[in-house]
Amino acid sequence: MANMGPYENVKENFSWSISEKELGYHNGEILNIGEYCTDRLCRMGKKDKLALIWEGFGGDVKKYTFNDMRLLTNSIAHFLKGLGLEPGDRICLFMDKVPELYFGFLGILKMGGIAQPLFSAFGSDSLITRLEDAKTAAVITQKKHLQKVRNIVPQMPYMKHIIVVDDDGSKPLKEREIAFHMDQAERIEHFDIYPSKAETPSVLHYTSGTTGKPKGAQHVHYSLIAQYITAKYVLDLQENDIYWCTADPGWVTGTSYGIIGPWVNGMTQCVLDSGFKAETWYKFIEKYKITVWYSAPTAIRSLMKDGDEIVKKHDLSSLRHLCSVGEPLNAEAVIWSKKVFGLPFLDTYWQTETGCIVISNYPGMTVKPGSMGKPFPGIDATVLDLKTYEPIKKPGIVGLIALKPGWPSMMRTYWNNEITYKSKFKNGWYICGDRSSIDEEGYFWFVGRDDDVINTGGHLVGPFEIESALLEHEAVAESAVVGKPDPVNMEVVKAFITLKPGFQASKDLDLAIMNFIRKRLSPLAMPQEIEFVDSLPKTRSGKIMRRVLRAKEWGEEIGDVSTLENDM
Ligand code: PRX
Repeated sequence: MANMGPYENVKENFSWSISEKELGYHNGEILNIGEYCTDRLCRMGKKDKLALIWEGFGGDVKKYTFNDMRLLTNSIAHFLKGLGLEPGDRICLFMDKVPELYFGFLGILKMGGIAQPLFSAFGSDSLITRLEDAKTAAVITQKKHLQKVRNIVPQMPYMKHIIVVDDDGSKPLKEREIAFHMDQAERIEHFDIYPSKAETPSVLHYTSGTTGKPKGAQHVHYSLIAQYITAKYVLDLQENDIYWCTADPGWVTGTSYGIIGPWVNGMTQCVLDSGFKAETWYKFIEKYKITVWYSAPTAIRSLMKDGDEIVKKHDLSSLRHLCSVGEPLNAEAVIWSKKVFGLPFLDTYWQTETGCIVISNYPGMTVKPGSMGKPFPGIDATVLDLKTYEPIKKPGIVGLIALKPGWPSMMRTYWNNEITYKSKFKNGWYICGDRSSIDEEGYFWFVGRDDDVINTGGHLVGPFEIESALLEHEAVAESAVVGKPDPVNMEVVKAFITLKPGFQASKDLDLAIMNFIRKRLSPLAMPQEIEFVDSLPKTRSGKIMRRVLRAKEWGEEIGDVSTLENDM
């Protein structure tokens, strides 16, 4: 039986206090996510239950019980405190999906720090933008990523410590660098967990927008209330489940539902620290008898591409519940998963800013393939008219997805950027920045983003960040970056570039520019296609009109171009 009862009943009677009650939390008390995910579970008798089964790239396996996790997160917290790091300090996790990343996250929270996870494929430029904004006090990283941090150390006077979790002593560490080996560290039985309260800052996740630099969505410990109950109801996590979230904790799915949600529910979760390969993934499910699987449309489409035969070679009968997030889940993918796994992937919609699933399909609810489902009980969601920002009453009309503020895991601000935070609200609604319609039965149908942000394989990349980096290349005079359609990743980055005098368009230059971006920013931000043009469409005031270029890529109507200065 599913954790959540019939949708309409639950919606009718829902209040976030259900979650507080189940967690034994009372308003005004101490609330620390690190404690709730570790010590509390041990007190509840789960000391010897496996919390983490980790498999590395080379096939090595590590297993940790809830008690191991309690002790190791204490060790990390103790170590960080010993370095002089203080509550409120931003501490960045810049690692692959190794156990230290997961336990480091909880350890930071236990000592009162603000965890700032960053995707380990980020290059030095992506890194400095986000560390500079947060004035991050320490980075926890691996040897393989150390050079990217070293490149920018001179620009970071505020950075006190660079902690290397796998230093082998073969090369001397430099100033501000220090080794920490979690598995060999003294296991600390009693650590004075920071007495955070509901509104104490917990996590800082950077996300990209259309303009300006990436913004740090700042969350608080109270987010736990929403992450607990959404993981329980939507992911339907139950005592004997073996759960696998494929997301990297560099992104919000990997923290809300790859750390906090499953562990506060006392789940055993598996982590596979290796890239995507259908064979590897199916083997992983088979080997660990995964029951609940949370993944993303791009991965599902990639699996689809690899065909049905490979599925049949594996025993995947342990699977009982599948969910997806990050991009539109096309109807074909839902129908395919039903055919090959005997289960549909249930689409869930949310954002870095929302901290938890806000619109979703639920166990037991009729799935309409292609729809995102209905608002989570406790979430007041609607679509607003594109011009008046008034809720649209008629079904089928496209508007802006909007949420009534006040759910527990909503970001509390953008770090250092209250103005942009405030700009996200209209008529008392939080505007998600996406377009959708709602049908007669209350199902949401995603249409697209309302801005220029590119969603590639479920990861948002900001065109502005890429355009700024492109300008640093010696050959680039001007650039405009848009998403172009892609059958697997939904969108990939395409750059339109005008060259400086003396430079000629060529395949070599094309590759050089692509590599330049890959190294500085990340493989995600790297343009998959570059088109050299003589000029870019601009408004009379000189603003580049990305939407004209995007419309061409997508074969859409260009719309109002009355402000266009030049003909394309
Ligand atoms: O555009 C929507 C898309 O991803 C955005 C949020 O991205 P991020 O903050 O990186 O968080 C991703 C994981 C929670 C949204 O504004 N998005 C997310 N889920 C869906 C989606 N688009 C369509 N369908 C979804 N289920």
